[in-house]
Amino acid sequence: MDRDFLEPKPLATPHGTVAFFDETWSVDPRELQIFFQAEQVHWTADRSIEHWRVLLSSSRMLTARLVPEGHRGGRLVGATRLWSDHAHEAKLYDVVTAQDLMGLGIASELVKWALRHPWVGDVNRFVLETRDAAQFYPRFGFRPGCEMDSVHMRVRTDDLKARGLR
Ligand SMILES: CC(C)(COP(=O)(O)OP(=O)(O)OC[C@H]1O[C@@H](n2cnc3c(N)ncnc32)[C@H](O)[C@@H]1OP(=O)(O)O)[C@@H](O)C(=O)NCCC(=O)NCCS
Repeated sequence: MDRDFLEPKPLATPHGTVAFFDETWSVDPRELQIFFQAEQVHWTADRSIEHWRVLLSSSRMLTARLVPEGHRGGRLVGATRLWSDHAHEAKLYDVVTAQDLMGLGIASELVKWALRHPWVGDVNRFVLETRDAAQFYPRFGFRPGCEMDSVHMRVRTDDLKARGLR
């Protein structure tokens, strides 16, 4: 499949050109940690560089960079992490845009790319969890889980440990 067809086209912004990359195999986990900390992304506050390394081994990291002439290596300004079981369900994680570049379409391009990314495979649905951005996702078709026929259930591993199940 033509790689250029899959990647979003570079985005012209008042700050310069933003280009999009699949950096699963090339991004430095330290750069991810610095970016997510700088953007004060609350759900990654406890994430270590080693956590990032492990996450990169089981999911795909799609990035946006502010770059001269659309080349790799510029400032990281957006990210979306993608997971899939390749048969049933895929999930979006860590959808973030740098605060000074919000509202320019960067996250929309990353999410749309994730939704069509061939690595996902032939799944039945995409899911995600959000605390602060629930109104961002309906434009892509996402609806709250309560509209579905089933109940989304979860348990924290800390609770499992307290029950002696881990
Ligand atoms: C949510 C977020 C990723 C959107 O990034 P972005 O690059 O600014 O998004 P885009 O420019 O593609 O889209 C902007 C649109 O999304 C809307 N939007 C942005 N953030 C939103 C939020 N938190 N809740 C609801 N809508 C939001 C904007 O109002 C704008 O709407 P419009 O197109 O109708 O004008 C960004 O605000 C962010 O990083 N937030 C902090 C981290 C976060 O909460 N991430 C989501 C985790 S699930």
